[in-house]
Amino acid sequence: MYRIGKEEVKEIEKVIKSKQLFRVGDPKQGHLGECDRFEKEWAEKIGTRYALLMSGGTSALICGLVGLDIGPGDEVLIPSYTFMATATSVLMVGAIPVVVEVDQTCTIDPSDIEKKITKNTKCIIPVHMVGLPCNMEKITKIAKRYNLKVLEDCCQAVGGSFKGRRLGSWGDAGAYSFNYFKIISCGEGGALVTDDRTIYERASIFHDSGTAFRPYAGEFSIPVFVGLQFRANEIMGAMMRVQLKRLDGILRDLRKNKRRLMEELKDNIKGINFAPSNDIEGDCGVMITFRFDDGVVAQKFASLVGGYRPIDSAKHVWFDWKPVVEKRIWHKPSLNPYNFPENKDLRMSFTKEMYPESIENLSKTVFVSVSPEWKAKDIKEKVKIIKKGWEEAHKNGN
Ligand SMILES: Cc1ncc(COP(=O)(O)O)c(C=O)c1O
Repeated sequence: MYRIGKEEVKEIEKVIKSKQLFRVGDPKQGHLGECDRFEKEWAEKIGTRYALLMSGGTSALICGLVGLDIGPGDEVLIPSYTFMATATSVLMVGAIPVVVEVDQTCTIDPSDIEKKITKNTKCIIPVHMVGLPCNMEKITKIAKRYNLKVLEDCCQAVGGSFKGRRLGSWGDAGAYSFNYFKIISCGEGGALVTDDRTIYERASIFHDSGTAFRPYAGEFSIPVFVGLQFRANEIMGAMMRVQLKRLDGILRDLRKNKRRLMEELKDNIKGINFAPSNDIEGDCGVMITFRFDDGVVAQKFASLVGGYRPIDSAKHVWFDWKPVVEKRIWHKPSLNPYNFPENKDLRMSFTKEMYPESIENLSKTVFVSVSPEWKAKDIKEKVKIIKKGWEEAHKNGN
């Protein structure tokens, strides 16, 4: 979270004073309809027909997969670099995640997607990590060619875009996280967007534990089925409406500071190299991404400047998704998708050695975080630290 203030307090106070904290209620009785309003505003911001606010990004991914009708017997392509929740969401619907390489942008490599597709592949989850947009043009083209669904994981890139279109609106559905560490937040929360009525209905039903408390959402055209309870409450809705008003300002300042720092670094450090971007304009600007020829130099640089190599970010790289790698799913072997007869012919193995391109790219990249609050003097200070770190890291023959 970057910004929070008295505006959030004021709106939350109104909800508490209304005494109507459940998301469904009667406006005549003073119900404010904050979740409902946020969903309309979020759909409009992203450019989709529907949005659904809920408990988190993981639940949004799960609901997205349910909406897309993914389940046992299906393989879902996910990148080697993503938070473990992308993989666990696939397993929660009984499908099997298949890992794909990331390229120099640290996002899913479209050319490796093609290599990994089999007759069992049903869906691709491109993940826009640390605000960096995937190449959605190439990915959606491949998906169309092979008749695959696309669920965008925008949890770390809320509000970002690719070629002028907001992330989340390129795929069949998009998932966002509003947890504490994200660009806008209500502590914990998430949302799903889609243009497709069936995806929306399935996701709505599933996230509402099969009770379907949602008369305002219109009549469902499919029968209600049992799901889980991922509903948002009115405090979340009220807070997210204020956070949404802050979003474009946060992105503007992040991008401005990232651009300024990159320009200053180019002027001050000979040979400085940044990782390529699929769309620098749409990038959220939360990280400067440095690219090195040597992973050891990258590691040294990271430790000197307060950055990190993505390969070292535990639970965000495929070999570190411990319970997934060790295939400990649910609490009973019979509920574990790796034991399902429907999945017996699917690819279940993903060792560290299987992804050399990812090891190379994630080891030779360093992320340094950007703040939207930096002023000119902070940027000067950063340049000094990074210049010193760059020179130190390249000493001793490296
Ligand atoms: C890429 C990615 N996907 C999914 C999630 C899950 O979001 P949440 O923690 O809101 O469930 C996160 C959260 O950090 C994430 O970074």
